[in-house]
Amino acid sequence: MNNSPRIYLDNAATTPLNPEVLEAMIPIMQEHFGNPSSSHAHGRKAKGIIEDARGKIAKLLGCSPAEICFTSGGTEADNLALRGSVNSLGIKRIITSPIEHHAVIHTAEDLAHAGLVELALLDVNEKGEINLNQLADLLQNPTPTLVSLMHANNEIGTMIDIQEIGELCHRHNALFHCDTVQTMGHFSFDLSKGYVDFIAAAAHKFNGPKGIGFMYLNRKNKITPEITGGAQERELRGGTENVHGIVGLAKALEISYRDIVAKKTHIQNLKNTMIQLLQEHIPGIEFNGNPFDQSLYTVLSVSLPPNEAGSMLLFNLDLAGISASGGSACSSGAVGGSHVINACKPGTNRTTIRFSFGKQNTVEDIKYTVENLAKWYAVETA
Ligand SMILES: Cc1ncc(COP(=O)(O)O)c(C=O)c1O
Repeated sequence: MNNSPRIYLDNAATTPLNPEVLEAMIPIMQEHFGNPSSSHAHGRKAKGIIEDARGKIAKLLGCSPAEICFTSGGTEADNLALRGSVNSLGIKRIITSPIEHHAVIHTAEDLAHAGLVELALLDVNEKGEINLNQLADLLQNPTPTLVSLMHANNEIGTMIDIQEIGELCHRHNALFHCDTVQTMGHFSFDLSKGYVDFIAAAAHKFNGPKGIGFMYLNRKNKITPEITGGAQERELRGGTENVHGIVGLAKALEISYRDIVAKKTHIQNLKNTMIQLLQEHIPGIEFNGNPFDQSLYTVLSVSLPPNEAGSMLLFNLDLAGISASGGSACSSGAVGGSHVINACKPGTNRTTIRFSFGKQNTVEDIKYTVENLAKWYAVETA
């Protein structure tokens, strides 16, 4: 039996919990378990803990605590922003892209099917870059509009210039929602600049706990809740708060900001090393997205030439002790294709594997992974 430790290269799916975060959460579950809505001392203590965490997050992001609404994670934050802006802010059109996370695309489609909005999808090129001229043209139309574009794509890592797009939207009186689930905790934000109306975040993407995230909503935009039944979160989201999760989220974000430069340097080096080793050892290797340009440093989407090994690749990596994730195109129309690869490279018959790195990964992890890939791909069979 192989007893060597497994290599985890799926950090865009989720990250391991930082022990410092766990340490901060334990006393909340054991001692400060009061319901924040209760008016007695236990409740007041829990309420104070939440507001303290909210204040810390707001300070890191350059916004007001009242602009942070805790949610169960990224999906709910995206839903609340899209549905809230349609239901409360008179939005009649959503402009988005075909490579957004399903939390955005399916929500926008749902709102369109209900006849509440018109939906416009922007063109993307092979690298997953949005057609900004098309966005500018569409924004000439004065229909009340929400633009929803992700800061970094979770499958291929392509990034947008969040400030440039936010300013373009605002020049045309459109609201701007940016799904920052993959970049929160990995980049610094200064929301005081006002270029964005909504963002979404999930703690488990930056070494915090699962089941907790937040939506930032610019104070100009007052929306009503999508989850009703309680006055929590300043009447934006009913339900007893996940107090230990909120504390874990704030702690994880504090640590991320504290260590951001060292983390970025370390992970970018892993990504560069993997690119270089793959280019050296695998003929015909390509990369999805634009890894040499404005690209999320935690994600490398590898495009492998057609080869018999392709269909079994994730399985074989798993057997070799490596956890990574798939995302191949679905040219045959079969179930399981990646909507992102299909939009960027329609009809491709290459195999995609997404490697995503965390601060716990080492250059040795990368070397071992490339060695294994090279076993199956050293000779191009296309
Ligand atoms: C870009 C993006 N948005 C939204 C989500 C959903 O976040 P959660 O799993 O916290 O609901 C994810 C998760 O993978 C993501 O990568």
